[in-house]
Amino acid sequence: MKRYLARTLILLGAILITGCSNAGSGGATSPGGGAPEASAPYSTQSEAGASQSTDSLLDLETRLVTLNDGNQMPIVGLGTWTQNSETAENSVYEALKDGYRLIDTARYYGNAAGVQAGVKRAIDEGIVTREEVFIATKIIPSGIDDYRAAIDELNESLGLDYIDLLFIHYRAADEVELYRAIEDAIDDGVVHSLGISNYYTPDEFEQITEDARIMPAVIQNESHPFFQNSAFQQYVGEQGVIIMSYYPFGGRGHTQDLFGHETITAIAEDLGKTPAQVLVRWQLQIGRVPIPGSKNPDHIAENIDVFDFELTNDQMRQIQQMNTNTRYETW
Ligand SMILES: NC(=O)c1ccc[n+]([C@@H]2O[C@H](COP(=O)([O-])OP(=O)(O)OC[C@H]3O[C@@H](n4cnc5c(N)ncnc54)[C@H](OP(=O)(O)O)[C@@H]3O)[C@@H](O)[C@H]2O)c1
Repeated sequence: MKRYLARTLILLGAILITGCSNAGSGGATSPGGGAPEASAPYSTQSEAGASQSTDSLLDLETRLVTLNDGNQMPIVGLGTWTQNSETAENSVYEALKDGYRLIDTARYYGNAAGVQAGVKRAIDEGIVTREEVFIATKIIPSGIDDYRAAIDELNESLGLDYIDLLFIHYRAADEVELYRAIEDAIDDGVVHSLGISNYYTPDEFEQITEDARIMPAVIQNESHPFFQNSAFQQYVGEQGVIIMSYYPFGGRGHTQDLFGHETITAIAEDLGKTPAQVLVRWQLQIGRVPIPGSKNPDHIAENIDVFDFELTNDQMRQIQQMNTNTRYETW
């Protein structure tokens, strides 16, 4: 009961906030029934009755989404998995120069010093303010004695005063303990928003939120044309939760499966864009926040250069038909 009341309040809040933040943007709308977009959203059924729709909370003009806790999050991010502190510093700095405002890292990646240095360099050069940058990071809920101390240490290692979004990295033994610690850290202002990662079904979501005081604002999951999981997006979308997509290109070692897929290459050719840009833009048009990973400055610039074109309804349907429910990650 407590949970349903909390969800209803969250949804009402998100709808009210979105109604205000989108006023005059002419772009995004609420999946909860907000005003229709200027161009009609397409909607098709392919995955066991689940529909995909361009009708989303993402505002493609401001490049922000208002989360169910009222915080705003940028809608394209840089992923830093496999980057050490040295490469991360440069990638983060290049990304901020190119207009990225969301950086994804994790305690496990061990590159907090590089992320911090890249952000500080951009701040020192007047490219961004701390408040404009949104740092998402993660903790694995296993093998840690004191989760609150781990959060504080992670915050200190990033050196940016607070963590914008903290995820439970994946499901493991102490997930509830970590969840409670994140809620407490939010109360203390150390963390601003709560996220969960690698939760793929309503059952998994229900279990972790069973006694939640603060509902997740974001779920970071594997997501690309071969693994769309649209029914789950619909389910959590009804609760104002945003999907952040990892492996938007399939992840290292698999990118050619997508970059070389005939549907993607044909669409890219039609639009005069690259396959990477088509894949990022597709994520935005289905209402998800992609975080492509790269340490190549040219790729970093290319991956956010996606705001001057649009996939047609027919192109969106073609990509939707690529779904095979196949994930590359196994955790
Ligand atoms: N929550 C989790 O469990 C989890 C799991 C995995 C990943 N993640 C997060 O999600 C982010 C994204 O995933 P990912 O980085 O593993 O995989 P990805 O974004 O699907 O693909 C990254 C690969 O694509 C290449 N690439 C990037 N842009 C390109 C472009 N424009 N043209 C050609 N190649 C390009 C990169 O190489 P270059 O460096 O040469 O550009 C790299 O090899 C990660 O960095 C991490 O932050 C989270």
